[in-house]
Amino acid sequence: MSLNSLEVKISELEEQIARKNRQIQELELMHKISKEAAGVIHLNKSLQLIANEACDAFKAGIGSILLIDLELEELVIKAARGLDEAVIRETRVKVGERVSGWVAEFREPLLVVDIEKDQRFAKRSNEKYFNKSLIAAPIFCLGQFMGVININNKKTKEVFTEHDLDLLVAIAEQAGIIINNADNYKKLQNLYMDTVSALTEAIDTRDHYTKNHSEHVTQYAVDIARELGLSEERISILRDAAKLHDIGKIGVHDYILMKPGKLTNEEWEEIKLHALKGVKILQPLTFLNGSIDIIRSHHERYDGQGYPDGRKGEDIPFEARIMAVADSFDAMTTERPYRKALTTKEALDEIVREKGSQFDPDIADAFLRCVSKKNYSFSQESTDLKE
Ligand SMILES: [Fe+2]
Ligand SMILES: [Fe+2]
Repeated sequence: MSLNSLEVKISELEEQIARKNRQIQELELMHKISKEAAGVIHLNKSLQLIANEACDAFKAGIGSILLIDLELEELVIKAARGLDEAVIRETRVKVGERVSGWVAEFREPLLVVDIEKDQRFAKRSNEKYFNKSLIAAPIFCLGQFMGVININNKKTKEVFTEHDLDLLVAIAEQAGIIINNADNYKKLQNLYMDTVSALTEAIDTRDHYTKNHSEHVTQYAVDIARELGLSEERISILRDAAKLHDIGKIGVHDYILMKPGKLTNEEWEEIKLHALKGVKILQPLTFLNGSIDIIRSHHERYDGQGYPDGRKGEDIPFEARIMAVADSFDAMTTERPYRKALTTKEALDEIVREKGSQFDPDIADAFLRCVSKKNYSFSQESTDLKE
């Protein structure tokens, strides 16, 4: 074999290896995305992962996923890489306009070699493109058009190829599966929440003394959280925890819950189990993960004398410390089989007294501020403070 033909052979082999490597990378990419599709919980996070992975795969600087708002007939950016926050927030693309609008109108994948020379876009937009070559593909979910994935600005300055477009179409298919799975997950989640809320309501109404208890506790807890500046994400987790905090009482006998006299030690121990029973009931609902730890710890005390784990101070989840104040206040201001309701003032005095022992002092103070700002209409003695 001559030296020349040997060199040709080597370069052929190198090309083959490069091709194989590309294939492996593409397979890895598709594997990663399909794994995400199988376990999708937060749609926007999954779409962001796709945008990032697609940009990496194409060595592209800009990638975006837009979903259609069917009422307004416009596309909104749900995930993107390489675009300004303001662009992501404000971009609205009407069907028919610009590249995404073209894909939305014709529902076909699109490969543009040079956007400035492409007749399809000559009259559609005077927008300046970062790079002349781009690819875009429609996203379908169960046959219905849902949005568009765009990739542009190859870092190598090369133009996109038909092969790139095929890969993007495969990615768009996975995006469709992700949207479908997220939608199913959301429906299932709502169904679970409806069922569980109905159960909580059943507990609250089973015993007229604790009627609407969960609802009141939710209101107090959310107000405290706002007062302390918690993020909306944390507030939403706290809200679910507050709604469901006593769900474990489903496993406590009626005669104990409604016993008019003092509880025996054994009966008291059974009541205490409701925190852990609640955890057990809710554990299979993975979307409640954050709330479950709060529910577990809503009867912990700041001084470590609470239950079920005897956690102390900062070791108790912050939201559970909020719950402790909210829960106790509602319990104190509600009539119980074995005692009359305290007035708002009496209950607040008790909260002040228990600062640092039962309650986190900062949270107790935050609640006092909430009460002075709000007139809780469902509190039985809500006018007391003004006396
Ligand atoms: Fe409780
Ligand atoms: Fe409670």
